[in-house]
Amino acid sequence: MTQTLLGGLSPTRFLRDYWHKRPLLIRNAVPGFSGLLSPAAMHQLATREDVESRLIQGSGSHWQFDHGPFKKSDFKRLPKTEWTLLVQSLNHVLPAADALLARFSFIPHARLDDLMVSYAVPGGSVGPHFDSYDVFLLQGQGHRRWQISEQTDLTIQDDVPLRILRHFKAEDEWLLGPGDMLYLPPHVAHYGVAEDACTTYSIGFRAPTTDELAQGFLMHLQDSVALEGRYADPDLRLQPHPGEISRAMLSQIEGMIARIQWSKRDIAEFAGCYLSEPKPNVFFNPPDAPLGYAAFNKLTRKSGVTLNPKSRLLFIGGRFFINGEAFNSAADETAALQQLADQHQLAAFPASLRERLYDWYEAGWLEIAPT
Ligand code: SIN
Ligand code: CO
Repeated sequence: MTQTLLGGLSPTRFLRDYWHKRPLLIRNAVPGFSGLLSPAAMHQLATREDVESRLIQGSGSHWQFDHGPFKKSDFKRLPKTEWTLLVQSLNHVLPAADALLARFSFIPHARLDDLMVSYAVPGGSVGPHFDSYDVFLLQGQGHRRWQISEQTDLTIQDDVPLRILRHFKAEDEWLLGPGDMLYLPPHVAHYGVAEDACTTYSIGFRAPTTDELAQGFLMHLQDSVALEGRYADPDLRLQPHPGEISRAMLSQIEGMIARIQWSKRDIAEFAGCYLSEPKPNVFFNPPDAPLGYAAFNKLTRKSGVTLNPKSRLLFIGGRFFINGEAFNSAADETAALQQLADQHQLAAFPASLRERLYDWYEAGWLEIAPT
């Protein structure tokens, strides 16, 4: 199945020759695919408070950008051409979208961001731009003309509410129809214009900047560093300027700060917590009428459990990280938890895991698998 998705390439060859390196057009990557939801269902999602949506209108150097949530009447006022509605994290609210994302498991879950969908009327586009992330652009219904360029001039137009390239020079062009897919590594300029009413599904990835990782690590260290001692100056000499911070004072402070150290374990702990942290706008919905512990056990023994699509469960050996929290698995739990992290579902699990899974169920992090 992955072979079809990648146009006959094995995941190993795709990773070696294309991933993060060069674009790839794959005709009929998902045979029979024509999208996961109707325009009306997308309008409905865009009215929700808990769903991130955007509306982009315009072309050339005239663009209008609005953030959702929208009112149903907002869509009635729109022209027949040149607008795009974007809905972020479709995989959080639509199980079929989560299943589509699962096809991309040849990339580590820690790198995966979300599935975004766009609905565009003829001429609709978000303009020529580049992204800082890898992306797979899978065509749903209708047709979109994609132009791409590996140009080095990535200057952005001033005075427009979107990141639009000032000089876009197409080097390649394709018309994508239902089921076709275009893979783009970061920084490849692209410009997609809807030929007819069409939907495009973007499988996006996370790539934190060095600065974001460093800032995150410093915050993590703040909680784990505990150093002994206090500033001390038994050798204090009379200084001509009492208002001056002396060299001796600075070198003692430097020495104290140089005692901050970290190990590979600190890095692993930080990486697990950081990479499993959901985005700040993600909120979990605990079940309205949760089953009691006994009923939960009875049902899950029969049908198993699935991870809620918003949950991020990752591991390093027997150390597990779920939604920013860390814990160790007992030896007999490791294989089951690793399977849940890899496949997001688990048909059977050791009895010792019941309490932990029940806590996750009560928090809305995990669900009882449908029978
Ligand atoms: C779109 O779906 O219109 C935009 C997706 C992208 O360019 O990243
Ligand atoms: Co883009």
